[in-house]
Amino acid sequence: MRNLLADLRAITGPGHLLAEPDVVAGYATDWTRRYAGVATCVVSPGSTAEVADVVRACAAARARIIPQGGNTGLVGGSIPPPASDGLAAVILSTRRLTSLEPVDRASGQVTAGAGVTIARLAAHAASAGLRYGVDLASRDSATVGGTIATNAGGIHTIRYGPTRSQVAGVTAVLADGSIVGSMSGLTTGSTGYDLAQLLTGSEGTLGVITRARLLLRPAEPAAAVLLCGMAGIAEAAELTGLIRAAIPGLLAAEYVDAAGLALVRQAAGLPAPLPAEHRGYLLAEIAGAGDPDDNDHVLEQIARVRLPADTVLAQDGRGMAALWAYRDRLTEAIASAGIPHKIDVAVPAGELGAFCAELGDVVRDAARGQRAGAGGAGRESAPGSFRRLIVFGHVGVGNLHVNVLGPDPDDTQADEAVARLAAAHGGSVAAEHGVGRAKTGWLGWTRPLAEVSAMRAIKAALDPAALLNPGVLLPPETATEPPERAAT
Ligand code: FAD
Ligand code: MLT
Ligand code: ZN
Repeated sequence: MRNLLADLRAITGPGHLLAEPDVVAGYATDWTRRYAGVATCVVSPGSTAEVADVVRACAAARARIIPQGGNTGLVGGSIPPPASDGLAAVILSTRRLTSLEPVDRASGQVTAGAGVTIARLAAHAASAGLRYGVDLASRDSATVGGTIATNAGGIHTIRYGPTRSQVAGVTAVLADGSIVGSMSGLTTGSTGYDLAQLLTGSEGTLGVITRARLLLRPAEPAAAVLLCGMAGIAEAAELTGLIRAAIPGLLAAEYVDAAGLALVRQAAGLPAPLPAEHRGYLLAEIAGAGDPDDNDHVLEQIARVRLPADTVLAQDGRGMAALWAYRDRLTEAIASAGIPHKIDVAVPAGELGAFCAELGDVVRDAARGQRAGAGGAGRESAPGSFRRLIVFGHVGVGNLHVNVLGPDPDDTQADEAVARLAAAHGGSVAAEHGVGRAKTGWLGWTRPLAEVSAMRAIKAALDPAALLNPGVLLPPETATEPPERAAT
């Protein structure tokens, strides 16, 4: 261990190796506070070459490597395993990989270091009159590398696709210390396996991403934000479809249920957005032509859609930001109410209503099972341990965030029940947050076992000693069979 620390210090310089237990513990705990692990140290290399040296030093010491960007991940993928099995665990932080090249206007691309935050990247693109297609409320901390590794989605996925759709190339260090990838930005060229796309969504299990070549989009400033009172998620999904068909510039379509709205209002001191209360709310953001004085055409487009009577429309920057606050501040509001169980799932648009109709009972039953000691935990919890269910998310792409407050952080029954329900409705147990440590056992519920085997084979080929983020993404061999598809 001493040798490893000395080797890492020699590679990066003394200021870039943290080994004080209290400091390291901060990096080894995730954003939600639900997941925490044990790490030996945190090392912050300053270049791709230093990352390669760090990986080789860790490999020689058989130390695990946990790549970490902004540590805003919500599935425990950016922190080490909870208990040590005698092997050192090194958190490899990308916080020093912050180079950002000038925007290449000819190709509409930019090269960014893995540690560049999404907010900085967005501002950089905007200064060249362009936009980065991924935006998320964690933008001030979430990094280029972390969002690629998780294939992050966010509020503009409906318009530009997830991170995968923005990646034109990556530079990465593999488990043997070799450096792969290209920053040429060529989007044509069919010469075999696409390593950049393979690393996208690999959650730190196949390589450490050090730089990325990213596509930028034309700037499409928002011209209007609508907030509509809805009878529920099915109605919100249907209205999203109508808006999408009638308005070419739909940038975002987000859903917040009544419990979420109440919580964010309370936590952030926000007024009621509409005269009446509703079971759910749809927030839609619409792009204009770029000229703020000529937004009449957007109003004409909006007028073509039959909107609910209780709808508010904002067209000025302040008004639009005020409506976005109900959505943007929700994650923080939930975290301020306790350690949440966050279950990020995808459900086909046509199944959203049925999924949400069953959700309350499914979560309540799971909590009852917890009280009776049924299932995994077998321990008594205080009555009423299920306190609050909040559903929100990116309804335009069928991505729902189910948040349960109340059950003990280490009790997974509600999480599993929700994931099973999503699978039974033809959905996915993980949407934009990834699998992390939280969902490995459920992967086979929505991915064919042949695909899980193929992923294992890729992992074994690229990282035979399982150095990179072991325990993340890939399920234990004992993972359970898929549940029955729900009757329709
Ligand atoms: P980390 O949390 O540090 O790491 C995430 C994963 O990526 C880990 O498995 C880690 O090992 C791996 N990793 C990190 N860097 C690298 C690298 N350079 N090379 C290889 N692997 C690496 N997510 C969404 O998708 N959409 C949202 O709308 C959204 N909103 C959020 C809002 C809030 C308030 C918060 C707290 C989180 C939100 N998230 C959202 C989740 C989170 O921000 C994303 O998952 C993001 O992609 C994580 O980026 P990060 O830099 O923090 O990565
Ligand atoms: C969001 O859409 O706000 C994020 O994915 C974060 C969350 O799920 O809380
Ligand atoms: Zn989200």
